Amino acid sequence: MKRISPTLNPEPGFLILGASSAMARAIAAGLAQEGYGLYLAGRDVADLESTAADLQLRYGVPVFSGPFDAIGTATHQAFFQTVIETLPALKGVVVAFGTMTEQTEAERDFPAAEAMIASNFTGAVSILTHVANYFESKGTGVIVGITSVAGDRGRKSNYVYGSAKGALSLFLQGLRNRMFHCGVRVITVKPGFVDTAMTYGLKLPPIVAPPEVVARDICRAVKGSADVVYTPFFWRYIMLVIKLLPEFVFKRLKL
Ligand SMILES: NC(=O)c1ccc[n+]([C@@H]2O[C@H](COP(=O)([O-])OP(=O)(O)OC[C@H]3O[C@@H](n4cnc5c(N)ncnc54)[C@H](OP(=O)(O)O)[C@@H]3O)[C@@H](O)[C@H]2O)c1
Repeated sequence: MKRISPTLNPEPGFLILGASSAMARAIAAGLAQEGYGLYLAGRDVADLESTAADLQLRYGVPVFSGPFDAIGTATHQAFFQTVIETLPALKGVVVAFGTMTEQTEAERDFPAAEAMIASNFTGAVSILTHVANYFESKGTGVIVGITSVAGDRGRKSNYVYGSAKGALSLFLQGLRNRMFHCGVRVITVKPGFVDTAMTYGLKLPPIVAPPEVVARDICRAVKGSADVVYTPFFWRYIMLVIKLLPEFVFKRLKL
């Protein structure tokens, strides 16, 4: 991990969890462009170090990196302590990690389903417990949680992944309700299809967004006041229609 003395590093910063994906990289670039220092955390430490060096050079902000595994919940408290020692003016945290196992595998093999639930939901609950308690003690902070439109309604083609994301959306909603009273913002981000490694090779409709659109919408949300962000914006309307379909109709569809 790259380290400098905290006293040399008073800039407000963001921690990005699961920082080696194309989406997280675009978010990191967007936040660095806004002048925020960064702590990039994830499993591929070598990749994070090179991204950190690149962002630091491009945007002139301090960028640190270090190992983080969402599933290793026993390590989360010590990990977060290291982050706040490194970036003492921590302003926000972006939860960008997640996995999507094929539905057919998840519905036949419980350990595969359980691993996906851990990397999308229980891992996020664990790290956000430490983050929320820290921000609550400071009376400030922004938590950005990336869930998915897949969490808005269970569909046969991806309901195990969707249920993990839906659970995360509900967790963030409750956390927002709790944290509102102490000056901490919680933003739920629900992307539609995004062109990343996660969707590589899948048969997708022709409305796949580049990761930069998600990053732009997140940076806007951090500056604004939105609680729930659909990205791109039109997914709000698509999901509204999908959510309004009565169950006796919905269960007959092949979605
Ligand atoms: N792409 C889409 O269409 C789409 C749509 C809606 C929501 N999302 C959500 O957006 C977020 C970013 O996804 P993406 O599309 O950029 O997918 P991606 O390219 O597959 O990236 C997922 C990221 O999560 C990290 N990760 C996975 N398991 C982890 C763990 N146990 N601990 C720490 N990091 C872990 C990965 O790190 P490694 O490199 O170490 O594997 C990678 O950096 C995810 O939460 C995803 O569910 C994606």
